[in-house]
Amino acid sequence: MSNTRCNITLTVNGETVHETVEARQTLVDFLREQLSLTGSHVGCEHGVCGACTVRVNGAIVRGCLMLAAQCDGTKVETVEGLSDSGEITDLQRAFEQRNALQCGFCTPGMLLTAQELLMNDGVPSRERIRAQISGNYCRCTGYHAIIDAIEAVAQQRAGGKA
Ligand code: FES
Ligand code: FES
Repeated sequence: MSNTRCNITLTVNGETVHETVEARQTLVDFLREQLSLTGSHVGCEHGVCGACTVRVNGAIVRGCLMLAAQCDGTKVETVEGLSDSGEITDLQRAFEQRNALQCGFCTPGMLLTAQELLMNDGVPSRERIRAQISGNYCRCTGYHAIIDAIEAVAQQRAGGKA
């Protein structure tokens, strides 16, 4: 296996980062191991579970399917960045209030996936919410509480009653 290394410059949660990475290093491993941003989790490593979800240039991606080297020049945002900025405070609160997390392993990915839907789709139907999170696996909650939380925040943001 090649150990070719390359230099990359990108923005991570608003800060410019210059790093040297292995050409084969995934984005999620880079974030966790080199930048100590451990909010994004590594589950299946095959693009199936969604635990590694992060944003690149405003769109969610699987951090296990993208190479760090591919992110040269991009803007990367993780759950830490969205949490610190307050962008997902209402979602985090709703997840907590509605018991939409138990072990929490899936939660960062769920939050980013939910936020993408809420940014683009007003007040989505429960079916639309289900479809949006269908690529994010949760082994604990049975999903209903997660859908409840996302729906409640959609209604709150639209000015309705949660
Ligand atoms: S770890 Fe990336 S989708 Fe499962
Ligand atoms: S809360 Fe445990 S996997 Fe979702």
